[in-house]
Amino acid sequence: MQIDFTSVPKHYASRTHEKMRDVLMDPDGVGPAIHYYMIRGGVDQKNVTVWEPGTISGEYIKTYGHYHVGDLSETYWIIYGQGVALLQKLAEDKNGEMIPDIVAEFRAIPAKAGDEIFMPEKFGHLVVNTGSTYFVTIDDSPVDFEDRDPTSFPGHADYEPVKKMRGFA
Ligand SMILES: [Fe+2]
Repeated sequence: MQIDFTSVPKHYASRTHEKMRDVLMDPDGVGPAIHYYMIRGGVDQKNVTVWEPGTISGEYIKTYGHYHVGDLSETYWIIYGQGVALLQKLAEDKNGEMIPDIVAEFRAIPAKAGDEIFMPEKFGHLVVNTGSTYFVTIDDSPVDFEDRDPTSFPGHADYEPVKKMRGFA
């Protein structure tokens, strides 16, 4: 069997500075070309995320942040480094739709190697690397490899409210 080593491996994704400018406090700030790297294996193999250390105009390197579509929770296991998980639940209108600019509940959870963080359903979440080394986590969120671009922006996740508000509270 021929293996094509020139194609991008199907499990690998990265989040570039260009993409992260959507949600940076200072979109014109100087940062690394790639803010974090992912190897996405889904529920069975798990997902690995590696954050670069550092700050961009005073803001720590963070993940983009998203809400889950449907009633899906998620667990993160911290493997290395130290960071802070930010969780926020938006207010909902009378139809049950999230209101992007009204945060009903906000949590900041410090995390270091050995810790486990539970992201309850309905809570948007992002994780910040506050240490001087890589920050590394494992999580169990699903990846649908039938999706158009499953590893980069998986279909179970809604990034739009985060993009609209240019980040979290
Ligand atoms: Fe998630």
